[in-house]
Amino acid sequence: MNPPEKISPVEQNKLDSRYLRGMLKESLAADTTHFTKNETLLLKFHGTYEQDDRDKRQELLKAKQEPAYSMMVRTKIPGGVLTAEQYMVHDELADKYGNKTLRITTRQGFQFHGVLKKNMKAVIRGVNEKLVTTSGACGDIVRNVMAWPAPSFEPWQAEIHGYARDLSDQFLSQSGAYHEIWLNGEKVEPPQTGDPEPIFGATYLPRKFKIGMSGVWDNAVDVYTHDLGIVPEVKGDKLTGFNILVGGGFGTTHGLKTTYPRLGSPLCFVLPEDLLAISKAVVITQRDFGNRKERKNARLKYTVDTMGLDRFREEVEKRFGKKTQPAHDIQLKKIDFGHGWRKQLQGTWCYGLFIENGRIKDEAPFRLKSALREICRELKPAVYLTPAQDLMLAGLTDSQKKPLEGILKKYGVALVESFSAIRKSSMACPALPTCGLAISESERLLPSVLTQLEKVLNETGLSDIPIITRMTGCPNGCARPYNAELAFVGKTAGTHNIYVGGNAVGSRIVYLLAEKVDGPSLASTLKPLFTEYRKSRTPGEGFGDFCDRLGPEKTRAIVGAVVAEKETWAVRG
Ligand code: HEM
Ligand code: SF4
Repeated sequence: MNPPEKISPVEQNKLDSRYLRGMLKESLAADTTHFTKNETLLLKFHGTYEQDDRDKRQELLKAKQEPAYSMMVRTKIPGGVLTAEQYMVHDELADKYGNKTLRITTRQGFQFHGVLKKNMKAVIRGVNEKLVTTSGACGDIVRNVMAWPAPSFEPWQAEIHGYARDLSDQFLSQSGAYHEIWLNGEKVEPPQTGDPEPIFGATYLPRKFKIGMSGVWDNAVDVYTHDLGIVPEVKGDKLTGFNILVGGGFGTTHGLKTTYPRLGSPLCFVLPEDLLAISKAVVITQRDFGNRKERKNARLKYTVDTMGLDRFREEVEKRFGKKTQPAHDIQLKKIDFGHGWRKQLQGTWCYGLFIENGRIKDEAPFRLKSALREICRELKPAVYLTPAQDLMLAGLTDSQKKPLEGILKKYGVALVESFSAIRKSSMACPALPTCGLAISESERLLPSVLTQLEKVLNETGLSDIPIITRMTGCPNGCARPYNAELAFVGKTAGTHNIYVGGNAVGSRIVYLLAEKVDGPSLASTLKPLFTEYRKSRTPGEGFGDFCDRLGPEKTRAIVGAVVAEKETWAVRG
């Protein structure tokens, strides 16, 4: 007989947790500032990362004091759609229990930073009272379901958001642990018969699982970057079905060739009534075949590449119960940030704000947080979070347009037109000081790098070109750098790798341009490339397309960079 297969400690921890319970309830009641390692792993499934302030870490260590622990609590908002009231509860809880800021995430949720352990329950209960959950916002489970944010610009938008909500409901944890620990407090042991998690089972998924649904032409959700990407198809005004993409994902490890960013591959086409069933079949196939021994290779992208797309499809079809149709042509053409005033189909108005790196805060003289609070209280718009960490205020009448602009002005919030094209197309992940995985700065660095880039672009006469620019503090890729036109990825403390060559619709992977460039030199390193772009681009050619056309050898020669081969991945997907 073969010995039983060994599973990783993380898998064992899930198995032992009695469907995500572990000792979380007891630990929460104890008078401590943090959790044990095993509990922090479980906490993620409930929407929380334990963190410590990395700016203070060394100083506290020297003084032999414990790290400055606090929690990042993330809410899960399908399609990023909130009522004004739901927005306001986030605002209040951030003031009362967090660091008085809110972060719109790159996946249409909110993050509270700086929540002390003793206040977690108040935050989680607070959002739940307004029907927002944190369950499944992190962890090895289906995360927030993203959807094309455009609020009623086209007739099928409401339908797309309906599907996003249904998908989100289908994949919510059924174990009861979340309610027991955070909400009603009653201890309910999992039943002895029947599986409390009919979709996930006792060890949930091998790794996180991301779902995103694009528009028909608009790829604002970056549909190729999700484990399961869904692209709607319409004929006339009617939604006729969905193309299903599988195996997108961006987490990589520097220098480790077995990890790489990958874009989703077309798996099949399904009718609208089959969307929930095919999604379930894909998730269950990943549950059954995903790598549970090596977490670095546990995402769906590796399962698809290991099995091969055809064999993966066969297994999906077995679980779906029938053959699938081949995928149709995908019509995605652009990424629309939704900035500025737009008329909605029903005649009301929507205003899309640009929010630098998604951080909602009051920082004199810019008091965005106060402005949004007053707008939500007085004008009660519908609030849409976008995948670019921005926010749209929708459902406004003609007579509310002036008051909205008045409130923004009163609090010193710049209207979207006043930002440069490159800044409006940029985003950064949080990185330091909160993220335990950050190697280098991101959210705190990108604004100044953009200021330098703006100067270089002005000097080269390119200031009106929107270049999709993204920065992360490590190669995990939370701000989706690997399909941007220009990306900076933390490499060592104080340095970033520069990548170029993605495109404006997010359907091409970048290549490495230069390694280990320090923060102050990022913009100046790029200057010769911008000069060459200005000189030799073809009419209308985007910066990413230009870099792709020239290829790595030429662009590296232009900026004078030498790149170690071990740092480049084979491009997949
Ligand atoms: C191995 C892979 C990854 C790990 C271990 C990881 C871990 C983390 C951690 C610890 C944070 C919290 C940072 C903070 O708020 O201080 C975070 C934030 C976030 N991550 Fe990841 N991440 C990974 C990859 C990704 C990828 C590929 C995406 C999306 C394409 C993503 C999306 C997000 C989002 C939306 C946030 C919230 C903050 C933001 O908007 O940037 N993550 N991640
Ligand atoms: S990309 Fe890295 S540094 Fe940035 S939030 Fe994600 S894990 Fe942290």
